[in-house]
Amino acid sequence: MNYDKLNKENLPMIGYGTWKLKNKEETIEIVKNAILNGYTLIDTAQAYANLEYVGKGIKASKIERNKLIISGKLWNADKESKESIVNACKKTIEDLNCGYLDLYLIHWPASKAVHKDWIEINAKTWEALEYLYEIGLVKAIGVCNFKKNQLEELLKTAKIKPLVNQIEFHIGFRQLETVEYCKKEGILVEAWSPLGSGKMLKVEELKEMALKYNVSVAQLCIRFCIQNGVIPLPKSKDNERQKNNIDVFDFEISKEDMKILNEFPYVGGSGLDSETITIFN
Ligand SMILES: NC(=O)c1ccc[n+]([C@@H]2O[C@H](COP(=O)([O-])OP(=O)(O)OC[C@H]3O[C@@H](n4cnc5c(N)ncnc54)[C@H](OP(=O)(O)O)[C@@H]3O)[C@@H](O)[C@H]2O)c1
Repeated sequence: MNYDKLNKENLPMIGYGTWKLKNKEETIEIVKNAILNGYTLIDTAQAYANLEYVGKGIKASKIERNKLIISGKLWNADKESKESIVNACKKTIEDLNCGYLDLYLIHWPASKAVHKDWIEINAKTWEALEYLYEIGLVKAIGVCNFKKNQLEELLKTAKIKPLVNQIEFHIGFRQLETVEYCKKEGILVEAWSPLGSGKMLKVEELKEMALKYNVSVAQLCIRFCIQNGVIPLPKSKDNERQKNNIDVFDFEISKEDMKILNEFPYVGGSGLDSETITIFN
C-alpha cells in the first residue's frame, strides 16, 4: 500500500482500537504485537491520553510507515478556532511521532443539548479539517458519532465529504438510520466497541451461536460488523485475543443467523447519544 491520499479502496476490513491502553511501557509491546498480528489500521485519539506509547509501539513494529493507516481524533476542547484545531492535529502527530496522519476525525459533534449553534460549530470544525487535508498534514478526514441529521447539516456546507463516520455499532445496537444514510452518501462506517466493550461476550445466545461456527463470541461479533459492511475496531491488549479477533475471514455467518443478529435486542452499550450528550461538550 502506497498512496498519496487515503480513500475507500485502501482501508482494510478491520482495524485496531487503542482506547484504555495505558500511557506506559507495556503499551509498546501491545501495539507492536497488534501490528505484527496483522492490523494495519490503528485507531487512536488525543483523548485516550496514551499517544506517546502507542506511537512507540508503532515504531517498535518496524513496519514501514506507508504500510500503516494511523487514525487520530480531534478532541472537543480543541475546537475553539482554526488555529487550535491545526495545533491539536500537529500535537497528535508529534505525540505519536508518526510524521503525518492518514485519517483525522472529529471525535464528537457539538451537542444540540449544549450548543444552540451546534450546526455552525460542526461546519467550522469541518472547514478546519478540510484545511488540514489541503495542506497535507492528514491524508483523509472524517467524523465520529455523527447521526443522520448531524451529517445532513454538515454536508450542506462541506467541500469534502467525510471518508468515514466512526460510530458505536455492535450486536443489539446498529444505528441503522445513520448506517444507511452513510452508505447512500458513500461514507464508510467504522464500528467502535464492536464487542460492546466486552459486554457482548457474556450473552448466552451469542455463546451458543459462536459454538455452532466453532469460533469465539468476539469473532462472531467482529464478523457481524464485516458482513454488515462496517469496519470493526476491536481492542485487545492480549496477543492471542488480538490474533483471534483478526482471524475472521474463513467463516461466514448464514443469512438466517444474520437476520437473528440484526434483530437482536439491546443487551448493553455505552448509552451515549451525540445529540443529547451534555458531558465533554
Ligand atoms: N470514536 C469514539 O467515540 C469511540 C468510542 C469508544 C471506542 N472507540 C474505539 O473503538 C475501539 C474498540 O472499542 P472498545 O475499546 O470500547 O471495546 P471493544 O473492542 O468492543 O471491547 C474491548 C474489550 O473486550 C475484551 N476483548 C477483546 N477481544 C477479546 C476476545 N477475543 N476475547 C475476550 N475478550 C476480548 C478486551 O479485553 P482485553 O484488552 O483484556 O483483551 C476489552 O475489555 C476503542 O479502543 C477505540 O479505538 C471510539
